[in-house]
Amino acid sequence: MKIIRVKDYQELSQVASQIMIDLLKKKPDATLGLATGSSPIGLYQNIIKSYDNKEISFKQVKTYNLDEYCDLPRTHPESYYNFMHRHLFHHVDIKEENVHVPSAEGSDLQAQCDHYNRLLNQTTIDLQLLGIGGNGHIGFNEPGTPFHNETFVVRLTEKTREDNKRFFNSIDEVPTHAITMGIKNIMKARAILLIASGKSKQKAVYELINGLVTEDFPASILQRHPDVTVVIDEEAAGLL
Ligand code: F6R
Repeated sequence: MKIIRVKDYQELSQVASQIMIDLLKKKPDATLGLATGSSPIGLYQNIIKSYDNKEISFKQVKTYNLDEYCDLPRTHPESYYNFMHRHLFHHVDIKEENVHVPSAEGSDLQAQCDHYNRLLNQTTIDLQLLGIGGNGHIGFNEPGTPFHNETFVVRLTEKTREDNKRFFNSIDEVPTHAITMGIKNIMKARAILLIASGKSKQKAVYELINGLVTEDFPASILQRHPDVTVVIDEEAAGLL
């Protein structure tokens, strides 16, 4: 695990986006695994700047997102499909057919999981971007999720719903379930880039790097991946 410590969120976004930009320059048809949430917003802004400066293009890039809330239509502003278009896809030349976000609409969620999992098994992600939950989740693999899980429907923990309440008007509006890539899908990526910023991530970052590898702390599995880069700011690194 390569640990890069930086000063603050701005530098974190700069350093982490440069890793993605370097990949896209070297491999214009790269396949990216993408994340939502607060952590990657600055990174996506830098990626858009690099695209505007004609340093990179998304013409041949394929993307696969980690997860999607159940029971939110794709048009809902907090659906991850909508988030990704707002923060990245609308601003670059990616082809819509190359964008993949799990679909969590409709009554047969298992069929949606199987479909997404088939797509994931037909490809290899070159670089998987991850944030980390305060409880150690990656994607929406909550504590206790078996490491061998592939794409599945997860019941979100109250901690995760509480953490994500800031995006909604009230806790009641935060979905209770989501579809997420499993740990097995995430571990198949050639390289992983995890970013964490702020005091609220201190404990999770400590466990990620120094903790036991256990299903009780899903991100700990990354200690067994051969190519992981973790970019953390001073606050997130506070317990190291
Ligand atoms: C997002 C995702 C989650 C977040 C995590 C951290 O697609 O899968 O694991 O990365 O909850 O969220 P933020 O960045 O909002 O602190």
